[in-house]
Amino acid sequence: MYAFAPDPALTKPELYRELAAAARALVAGEPDPVANMANVAALVWQFVDRLNWAGFYRMVEGELVLGPFQGKPACLRIALGQGVCGAAAATGATQRVEDVHAFPGHIACDADSRSELVVPVLRNGLVIAVIDLDSPLPARFDAEDAAGIETLAAAIAAAI
Ligand code: SME
Repeated sequence: MYAFAPDPALTKPELYRELAAAARALVAGEPDPVANMANVAALVWQFVDRLNWAGFYRMVEGELVLGPFQGKPACLRIALGQGVCGAAAATGATQRVEDVHAFPGHIACDADSRSELVVPVLRNGLVIAVIDLDSPLPARFDAEDAAGIETLAAAIAAAI
């Protein structure tokens, strides 16, 4: 059992620093990528509030395939360039969407989702996965959330 719990008094940058440190500690020494993604998805769920979905899509033979997550069952496969996840994977750039209904091609896996943050995980300059966070609130994610999840992605890239 791991007792990682965020202190409610933390600022957002501090919270994300703690999340990245906890993730590094959880994946240290474990070579299995599924086990590591599962624990990181659970950690994000624990640290980041107001989410309805948090997890991974992995790049497998040129498309995104569902990985470990927390939330409702989701779309299994996403083509590059499709939806918010596919845009992040195709461009290698973080996608922060304040209103998913206004995003052309958004894939509605969970009808509750109103805003979304998708961060590519890069290894040797290639997108190997994306981290996807959905919120039932519009404009849930700001630039600090994006920077924080980018720090997390860098912290775990070698372990997934
Ligand atoms: N909404 C995403 C699909 C994945 S689910 O949100 C879990 C998208 O448009 O890529």
